[in-house]
Amino acid sequence: MFIGLDVGTSSVKAILLGEDQSLIASATSDLTVERPHPGWSEQDPDSWWRACENVLDALKVEAPDALAAVRGIGLSGHMHGAVLLDREGRPLRPCILWNDGRSGKQCEELTRSEPKFQTLGGNLVMPGFTAPKLQWVRENEPEVFAKTEMVLLPKDYVRFKLTGDYVGDMSDSAGTLWLDVARRDWSDDLLAATGLDRSKMPRLVEGSESSGTLKPDLSARWGFATPPVVAGGGGDNAASACGVGAVDPGSAFVSLGTSGVLFVTNDRFSPNVGGAVHAFCHAVPQTWHQMGVILSATDSLNWLSGIVKKSPGELTQALGRVSGPSAVSFLPYLGGERTPHNDVDIRAGFAGISHETDDAVLTHAVLDGVAFALKDCLDALSVAGTKIDRVLAVGGGSRSQTWLEIIASLLNVTVDVPVDGDFGASLGAARLGQAAANGSTDGIFGKPALKTSIDPVPALNEHYAEAYGRWRKLYPAFKQAGF
Ligand code: XUL
Repeated sequence: MFIGLDVGTSSVKAILLGEDQSLIASATSDLTVERPHPGWSEQDPDSWWRACENVLDALKVEAPDALAAVRGIGLSGHMHGAVLLDREGRPLRPCILWNDGRSGKQCEELTRSEPKFQTLGGNLVMPGFTAPKLQWVRENEPEVFAKTEMVLLPKDYVRFKLTGDYVGDMSDSAGTLWLDVARRDWSDDLLAATGLDRSKMPRLVEGSESSGTLKPDLSARWGFATPPVVAGGGGDNAASACGVGAVDPGSAFVSLGTSGVLFVTNDRFSPNVGGAVHAFCHAVPQTWHQMGVILSATDSLNWLSGIVKKSPGELTQALGRVSGPSAVSFLPYLGGERTPHNDVDIRAGFAGISHETDDAVLTHAVLDGVAFALKDCLDALSVAGTKIDRVLAVGGGSRSQTWLEIIASLLNVTVDVPVDGDFGASLGAARLGQAAANGSTDGIFGKPALKTSIDPVPALNEHYAEAYGRWRKLYPAFKQAGF
C-alpha cells in the first residue's frame, strides 16, 4: 500500500493506493489563500500540516487495515513557495506562494546581476520563482532574513513534519532558481546571488528515492505496522506527469488546475528562456521537462463563479457544447502571466461585451481565453523545438468536455482523457512512494486507462485560429493602456 499526499493551493489531497495501484481511499481538506496586498498571495505553512493530519485521520477512519500496510508515502505540492524556518524549524512568516507577484523589481535586478540564472538555472527570473522572493524578504524584512536558517518548498515543509529531515527533490528544487538544473545540484553562485549558501538549503534526492522514514510517534498515531519510507516526491507538475505516465521523452499533458500547464518530458535539459518556457528536472532520474505555465486556469472560472454566484460546474453545464469561439474575448491575467509574457503587472479583462452578453457568454469567453493562453504556451514550446501532437488532460477543469474540445481544436492536438483525471499529482506522488519503497522505478509509471480521446475538429480549428489572432492583439493593447 502507498499514500500520495498532494499539497495543492486550494486543498490537500491524500490517496491510498494498493500494491496493484488500485485506488482504495481518498480524502481532501480545504485550504485558503491570503491576499494581504494586491498581487500578494500567501499561506500559513502550518495550515498544510493541519490539512495533512485531517486527510490522514480520514484515511484511518475509512480504511484502517489498508493504511496499516502502507510501505511508502510520496509527496507533491504547489511549487516555488518560500517557507522560511528559524533554527527550531518554525516558520518565520507566511509562505509566499507561486502566484505572488511582489518581487518584480528583485527579478529585474537579479537578471542584471547574475546571468547564470538563465544559463545554469535555465529560466527567466520570474516573480513566481523562489529566489526573487528571498531577495524581496532580504530587502524588505531584513530581520526575518537574518533569522532564516532553512529555506524549504511547501511539500518539503510537510516532509519535515513527517520525518524530521530537511530534504528536497530535484523537480521542485529546480523551480527555486538556485539549482544547476543540468547537474541536478545546488549552485553556490546562484545561492550567493540572494545572500544564501548550501547550509540554508535541504539535502537533495531524486523524486523516486527515499528521503527518510515517518517519525515513530506519527507512525503509531496512524497505525502503520512499520514506519513507511517517504519518497523525494515532486513539484505538482512533475508529480502529475508521474501520475499519467508521462516520464518518457516527448510525452505531454495539459493541466487545468488553479494554474494551467502544458508539460512535456525531455531526455535532456532544454531551456528556452525567450518565451518564458520553464525548464526543470523531472521527478525521475536523468530526465528533465519543459512547461508553459499560465497563472489562472480554473482560477479564472472560479473568479467568474464568485461574481455571478453560480458554481463552476453549473456555469459549464449551462453553457453546454460550443460550435465556435465566443464573440466576447477574455484575457485570463487575473494575477499577471508567466508564459509567454513574464508580466506580473498585466491584468485580466473582457472585450466585446454587448447588451446580449449573459453568464453563458462570459463562461464561454473564459474557457476560450484560458485555451488561447495555452495556445501561447504551445507556440513557446514549439519555438524551443518541441512538437506536441497528443496530450493527456488532468486537473479539475478537465471534467469539462467542452473545455477539452476547445483546447483540442485550437491547439490542433488530440486530448486523451484519463478515467481518473482528478488524481494526477496525488497519484504521481503515491507512485513515487512506491518506487522509493521498492527501490526501483520498474513498471511503476504506466499510462492511465482512457475515458475518451478528443480529436481536433478541422472546422473549429479554423474558427478558433481566427479568434486567436484577434485575442493576441488584446495583450499589447491592454499593456499600452496601462492595465
Ligand atoms: C508551476 C507553477 C504552478 C504551481 C501550482 O511553475 O507555478 O503550476 O506549481 O500548481
